[in-house]
Amino acid sequence: METPLLAPSILAADHSRLADGVAEAEKAGAKWIHIDIMDGHFVPNMSFGPQTVADLRKKSDLFFDTHLMLDNPREHVDAFLEAGSDQVSIHVEPDYDINGLLAHIRSKGAKAGIVFNPGTPASEVKPYLDQVDLVLAMTVQPGYGGQSFQESVMEKTSQLDKWREEESLNFRIQVDGGINLDTAKICQKSGVDTFVAGTAFFKSEDKVRFLNTIEERL
Ligand code: DX5
Ligand code: ZN
Repeated sequence: METPLLAPSILAADHSRLADGVAEAEKAGAKWIHIDIMDGHFVPNMSFGPQTVADLRKKSDLFFDTHLMLDNPREHVDAFLEAGSDQVSIHVEPDYDINGLLAHIRSKGAKAGIVFNPGTPASEVKPYLDQVDLVLAMTVQPGYGGQSFQESVMEKTSQLDKWREEESLNFRIQVDGGINLDTAKICQKSGVDTFVAGTAFFKSEDKVRFLNTIEERL
């Protein structure tokens, strides 16, 4: 099991002052910030581009956990690496050379993650487990913040945890979507060590407590 970590998602911050959202996360003690990139094709919504990441990079030393929700990640990955992402996670569902792209991300000195949607079986990410630093199990259908956590995904995180143990691998297991203090507790029992939280974190009145509870210091 990796040390528990919270990655606040700036999708839930005020988009007219994103740097303040990053600073709020940092002030609460976060080490990571989750940055959702949406193309309006792979998911119905649109969010940020590489310039947003580059500009935030000038204002923060947090670990930039970039989640690409793109039909064609190969076409855009370099822009997000050059913008200063510390980790780039790519979805398993679109049709492209996944092995090649994971290796490419690592060759640029960044960490690489593989992501799968609630409807995608865990067997789809199994071939990549020895090539990634993180596996992200989506606990909502990606596209929007503020949706309800899908508990059925816990079967898959438990399976990932089992494979990680059996094969002595050390990728992180991350969840994203509908994470609050109650749903995080459920995840903690199912092998999850890395938690993305947008709405619940930014709405929380005591962000330090929220972070410390998730990172198991309380
Ligand atoms: C969903 C995004 C999430 C989103 C989570 O498409 O990938 O990262 O910010 O938001 P909440 O925590 O509000 O469900
Ligand atoms: Zn995300």
